[in-house]
Amino acid sequence: MVTYRSPREWERMREAGRIVARLLADVRDAAEPGVPLAELDAVAARILKECGATSPFLHYKPGWAPGPYPGNICVSVNEVVVHGIPDGRTLTDGDLVSLDCGAQIGGYCGDAAVSFMVGTADAAGLRLIETTRAALENAIGAAVPGNRLGDVAAAVERTAREAGYGIADGSGGHGIGTEMHEDPAVPNTGRAGRGMRLRAGLTIAIEPLVTEGGRDGTRYLEDGWSVATADGSRAAHFEHSIAITEDGPLILTAP
Ligand code: MF3
Ligand code: CO
Repeated sequence: MVTYRSPREWERMREAGRIVARLLADVRDAAEPGVPLAELDAVAARILKECGATSPFLHYKPGWAPGPYPGNICVSVNEVVVHGIPDGRTLTDGDLVSLDCGAQIGGYCGDAAVSFMVGTADAAGLRLIETTRAALENAIGAAVPGNRLGDVAAAVERTAREAGYGIADGSGGHGIGTEMHEDPAVPNTGRAGRGMRLRAGLTIAIEPLVTEGGRDGTRYLEDGWSVATADGSRAAHFEHSIAITEDGPLILTAP
C-alpha cells in the first residue's frame, strides 16, 4: 500500500533525515585505514543516542534475511554492494566504502548512503563513485509529479550504463515513512514512461547500486546479509530519502 504524506509529515521526516546526514558525516570522518568496522558502528550508536533516535537497521528482519540485522549501520567495502555488517574487520588504505545509515525519531524514518575512498584513492574508484553520485542526482531530478517510477529507474540505469558500469541485479530503493521499507519498490532499472505515476506526498528512498565490472550479477556472502558482486569488482552506492512535492524533490536526508 502506497502512503502519501503531508508537508507536516515531511517536516517530521526531515528531522530524522538531518540525523542521518550527521551520522554519514561523522562516521565518514572516523573511517581511516586500520579502523575496525565495529568502531564505525559504535560512532553511529553514540550519535543516535545523543539525538534521542534509534537505528531502523538494528534488529531489522525482512523475510529473506537469515536473522535480525546485527548493526546500527551498513558498511560495504569494495566488492560488497550493500548490507555489509560492521564487524571486527578493519579498513585498509585504498578501500572503497559504502556507508549506509538510518535514523528513526518521533515515529518517522530516514535512510541515506554515501560512498568514498579510505586513504589513497585511485582514479577508477573515484570515477565509479562520481558516476553513482550522478545517477542519484539524475534520478532525484526525475522524481517530480507527473513522471513515473520508470523515469526514476531509467535515469539511474542510463547514467550507470553510459559510463560502462552495471547495476546490481534487482537492486533499488523503496518507499519510506513510518517504516524504513514501505511500498512502492523503486527499481534501479526500467523504462521511462512506465510504472506508477508520481504524485506530491510520495516519500521514497532512491539508491543506485553501481558495479565497476559492468555486469549486474550478485551473490550473498556467508553471513547471509552482505550482497557482493558476482565478478568481484567493486561497487558504489548513494542514497537519499526524498519527498515528491509540487515544488520539486525535497531531499529529506540533506544536512
Ligand atoms: N538502505 C538500505 C536498504 O534500504 C538499508 C538496509 S538496512 C538493513 O536496503 F538492515 F537491511 F541492512
Ligand atoms: Co534504503
